[in-house]
Amino acid sequence: MNPLGLDCPPTCPFTVARQPALDFPVGRVRRVPVARPNGEEVDETKRNVLKLLAVAGLVGAGAGGLVGGTLQYVQPPAIGISSYPKVQLLDVDGSALTVSTVESEYNSETPDIYLFYYPLQNEPNFLLNLYPSSGTPNGTNGAENVPYGVGTHNSIVAYSAICQHLGCPAPAIAYYPPGTCPQTPGGKTFYIHCSCHGSTYDVTNSAANLTGPAVLPLPQVLLETDASGNIFAYGMRPGSPPVNGHLNTLQGDYGVGSTSQLLKETPVILCNIA
Ligand code: FES
Repeated sequence: MNPLGLDCPPTCPFTVARQPALDFPVGRVRRVPVARPNGEEVDETKRNVLKLLAVAGLVGAGAGGLVGGTLQYVQPPAIGISSYPKVQLLDVDGSALTVSTVESEYNSETPDIYLFYYPLQNEPNFLLNLYPSSGTPNGTNGAENVPYGVGTHNSIVAYSAICQHLGCPAPAIAYYPPGTCPQTPGGKTFYIHCSCHGSTYDVTNSAANLTGPAVLPLPQVLLETDASGNIFAYGMRPGSPPVNGHLNTLQGDYGVGSTSQLLKETPVILCNIA
C-alpha cells in the first residue's frame, strides 16, 4: 500500500527509495560531496560549472563560425574576369565586322555613334573610323595612322564611352564629327565631347584629354584583325586608366563572352566646351 492508500507494485515511484541526487531541482546548483579513495571530496558544483563553460565555449565557437560564414555572404562577391579576352566584333546586323565593312559604312563624318561592350558587360566603347569619306585626311576632316589604329589607313580605333570626369556614359559623351561645334579644343575640329560638363578628348591621340574638367584620357581598347579582315578586341592600351567607375577594368561585372555586337545610338550634341 502506498502513502495514498493505493495498491502499488514494488517498482512504484511512491515506494522505491529516492536518490538524493535525483531530487536536484531544475535550474539549481548545489554541492554534492563525492568521496575519493584518498578521502578528499570532489566539488560537483565546480565540476558542473566547468562543464557548462566548456559547452558554452563549443557553442560560442560554433556561433562564431556561423557568423563568420554568414558575413562572407553579406559582402557581395567580386565579379569580374581574370584577363583580357579576345572578342570578335559584330556589326549592328549581327554579321562579322570587317575592315572592309567599317571602311565602307563608317568614317570621320558619321553622325551616329557606334558602341560595343568590352571587356565587361557594363563597359561601353566607341568604335570609330577616323578616315574621311571625302578623301585624304588634311588634319581637319579626319585622320590616319593614329596610335593603335587598324585597317587600311590605321584609322579604326576604339575608346571607352564613359567619361573620365564623373562617369557620364554615351550618348551624353559622344564623338563629334568635324564642324559639329564652333570650338576647336586643342586646335581639333573633331573629337569626343562630354555634354555633362564639357570635357573633350583627342581621338587622334589615344583619347588624351583636351579640355577639362576631366584630366585623364579615355581608356583605349586594343584592336586587331585576322587574315580575313575580321576585327577583334583583345585588351586595353598599356597606360590606359581604368574605365571610370571601376577600380580595375576587369572587375565589376561579367565578361561579354566571345563576341560583342555594335549598337547604334544618336549622340547628345551640346557645344559647352570651355
Ligand atoms: S562627366 Fe563628363 S565632363 Fe563631367
